[in-house]
Amino acid sequence: MGIESSCDETGVGIVRGTELLANAVASSVEEHVRFGGVVPEVASRAHLEAFVPMLEKAQADAGVSVADVDAIAVTSGPGLTGALLVGIAAAKALAIAYDKPLYGVNHLVAHVCVDRLEHGELPEPTAALLVSGGHTNLLLVDDVTSSVRMLGETIDDAAGEAFDKVARLLGLPYPGGPQIDRAARDGDPSAIAFPRGLTAGRDMEKHRYDFSFSGLKSAVARHVEHEERMGRAISVPDVAASFQDAVCDVLSAKTVRACLDHGAQHLVLGGGVAANQRLRHFVLERAGEAGIDVRIPPPVLCTDNGAMVAALGSALVAKGVAPSALDLPADSSMPV
Ligand code: KG4
Ligand code: ZN
Repeated sequence: MGIESSCDETGVGIVRGTELLANAVASSVEEHVRFGGVVPEVASRAHLEAFVPMLEKAQADAGVSVADVDAIAVTSGPGLTGALLVGIAAAKALAIAYDKPLYGVNHLVAHVCVDRLEHGELPEPTAALLVSGGHTNLLLVDDVTSSVRMLGETIDDAAGEAFDKVARLLGLPYPGGPQIDRAARDGDPSAIAFPRGLTAGRDMEKHRYDFSFSGLKSAVARHVEHEERMGRAISVPDVAASFQDAVCDVLSAKTVRACLDHGAQHLVLGGGVAANQRLRHFVLERAGEAGIDVRIPPPVLCTDNGAMVAALGSALVAKGVAPSALDLPADSSMPV
């Protein structure tokens, strides 16, 4: 069984090996809409309310009770501390009550591991691009149970956060990623030349696999202000398409470069932004040209969920890895 509560999704998943049995997820995203982003205190309260219903749903969907599982895995970081603590406290209570081993797992590694449930065992090495409202990470997985390296990450905003902030500038509702994706379909991606952060000169040398989106966000803001000053109506589709192109161009180019540099012939995409049509197009095209096999789990497994935690837990159990101690802490900035 896997339990996830690092951000705004409360998830309880049950797997058997690489077979998905249940994936119950409740999201508090609606409660954060009026704030334009996730409010930690609101997220923690929502986890408290949603946990037991999700636990019951997962058991009913799988036809398996907690008493029958081999182990309980829970996200112990990275994430919002108060939110993580709800899932960790629940997992500890279940582990004690049912006398099950407890595994504290890394949320980012779980995002990669979830692909086992869709495409079977992960070939190694596998590279992974994780892009959501909270993270933007480029990982190299030599062994999902013991050896994962962080090759790069965002130095400012997460990719999804950039989508959400730019959507707000364009008057589109939160969460903005799907809105921009939709608006961009009617726009011209080359209408406005937005900057591609950390892709040239010294920046690229120093940050070969890192990302930066705050300069891009400011460039969009400047464009919108300029057009307003000139008394011109902005073309939301053109701005959306041009912004989206800048984000997805950099994400895909650096990811394929990392795969080639490290001899990774497989690539997993994860996180909510993996649903983006333009990102999928760029990644599939560029990775395809480089002979890299791309694995994109379905959207329900790309966004935060309990099945991904269970998928990693089951890999740890199968490998004979020792369980965590019952005083397992939450680690908001846990390394991979
Ligand atoms: O993984 P996720 O559901 O939650 C976390 O952030 O943990 O990701 C949500 C993020 C939001 O920033 C949302 O705007 C973005 O993913 N997103 C997208 C798309 N669908 C969701 N961004 C771009 N294009 C999309 N189609
Ligand atoms: Zn996540």
